[in-house]
Amino acid sequence: MSEPQTAALVVEHIVKEYRVHRTAFRAVDDVSFRIARGTTFGLVGESGSGKSTIARCVLRLIAPDAGRSLIAGTDPALVRGSALRRLRAETGIVFQNPKAALNPRMRIRDIVAEPLVTHTRLSAADVRRRVSALLDEVGLASSHGERLPHQLSGGQAQRAGVARAIATAPQLVVLDEPTSALDVSVQAQVLNLLQRLKRERGLSYLLISHDLDVVRYMSDEAGVMRRGQLVETGPADVVLTAPSHEYTRQLLAAMPAVPGVRMPQPDGDERSILL
Ligand SMILES: Nc1ncnc2c1ncn2[C@@H]1O[C@H](COP(=O)(O)OP(=O)(O)OP(=O)(O)O)[C@@H](O)[C@H]1O
Ligand SMILES: [Mg+2]
Repeated sequence: MSEPQTAALVVEHIVKEYRVHRTAFRAVDDVSFRIARGTTFGLVGESGSGKSTIARCVLRLIAPDAGRSLIAGTDPALVRGSALRRLRAETGIVFQNPKAALNPRMRIRDIVAEPLVTHTRLSAADVRRRVSALLDEVGLASSHGERLPHQLSGGQAQRAGVARAIATAPQLVVLDEPTSALDVSVQAQVLNLLQRLKRERGLSYLLISHDLDVVRYMSDEAGVMRRGQLVETGPADVVLTAPSHEYTRQLLAAMPAVPGVRMPQPDGDERSILL
């Protein structure tokens, strides 16, 4: 499981600088971590600490200036053509704001189908069948597939975003603040949906969230980012309850857990408020 070649994701010494008015700003500074298959790595840290930049490097939406990442053992920088397409099919991403992330002029069905059309050679009929199964798997009715994004609730739109992210049956899914734009009652449903999919599909997640409760609930391992650097990593319950690094302690103190009902029960009913 923890062999380098079987890890869902290996990140090694990634550096990313942004150039703004001719000065370079190091947004990610020598970050390394790994995600074992079937596990969730939660990344926390203050706004601007480089979390989304790491995600963009991992997904190869941008190229790092140094270092490398391996998705299921393969460095996306070293493959081209059909091998790169296959590798892209091995990853998915769920964004923070589902309505903004989904093309407002496309039907949900076509939004979910798009990665299948781009990264696979499935026939149109197979794509249709796969999309129907995906909608069902995330708890949407087939009639939701005919709608435009603005005709769904926030929670439904995020379910569609999840369906799109898992459409090509990826091994690794990046969740960048997947529930922070949702109402609290809906957050729990989407988190439980993600947990079920992880279990059933053996998914690995890179979860980015400023909500420490969410990260604690979802993650096996956690890492704390500060100004581009990963200052602490370890088992999520240790890092987020008994951190060894002073910065993590400050972060925990600044974001006290909200007592009460925010976190769903494991295996709780994720479909209860569906419509
Ligand atoms: N395209 C860009 N050009 C220049 N600077 C950028 C660009 N994208 C991000 N940055 C800067 O890089 C730093 C890291 O940004 P990033 O989006 O990775 O942070 P983050 O940890 O995801 O923050 P948040 O929690 O607010 O989403 C920030 O200071 C940001 O302003
Ligand atoms: Mg971000």
